[in-house]
Amino acid sequence: MASTTVTDPSNQRIDSSHKGGVVEVSHPLIQLHLTRLRDKTTEPALFRQSVRRLATLLAYESTKDLLVSETSVETPLTETSGVKLAERIGLIPILRAGLGMVDPVLDLLPSAEVWHLGLYRDEATAKPVRYYDKLPPKRPVDVAIILDPMLATGGSAMAALMTLREWGVKQVKVVALIASREGVETVEAQFPEAQIFVATVDPVLNDQKFIVPGLGDAGDRIFNTVDPE
Ligand code: PRP
Repeated sequence: MASTTVTDPSNQRIDSSHKGGVVEVSHPLIQLHLTRLRDKTTEPALFRQSVRRLATLLAYESTKDLLVSETSVETPLTETSGVKLAERIGLIPILRAGLGMVDPVLDLLPSAEVWHLGLYRDEATAKPVRYYDKLPPKRPVDVAIILDPMLATGGSAMAALMTLREWGVKQVKVVALIASREGVETVEAQFPEAQIFVATVDPVLNDQKFIVPGLGDAGDRIFNTVDPE
């Protein structure tokens, strides 16, 4: 028989007072796919594949505190208990590079809503520029998962976090493949409640605000728009 009891199987989140901050997820498969992304000779098809693999692995880690409620299910033999999601989940891909992470995460969370945000980083100033936002005025999701392969200065992530705060989202997670130390610290200072999941925090931003050692521009490598110059 179905029930609405809310349980927390990981015992990590009891209410909205969950812990924020960065989690650098350590796993051999993550290191393997990150190495492929870093390699400048990796062709777009393999680059996209590794983006999807890393998005899956990081999304798995980032969702271990999702709340579920009990339900029942009929196996071929008998009735037994199971769970269903107790909250509305929203995936928030940051255009354009975040699009490369949507399908694998949606495979894990097929009932999630997908709300796109358009942001690009101005090449001269490295500041985020908003160009698309169709969030509805009401009924925010309970948990938002921002998807963007890169967190460099953190400006784009913070613009998205501000938008989601204004929407009224209670819990926000950022799933990025690669971040810079400076960017993570900037985001943590401004949004201490945000949970950030990454495959690596690289040490440096160069003069052009690119992550070093990094992997180049993820959007250009996903969509094969790298300038040959
Ligand atoms: C990249 C990346 C992030 C942002 C990170 O996007 O995908 O959105 O820059 O930089 P930040 O932390 O300094 O803001 P880009 O502007 O290259 O747009 P794209 O996704 O269209 O390639």
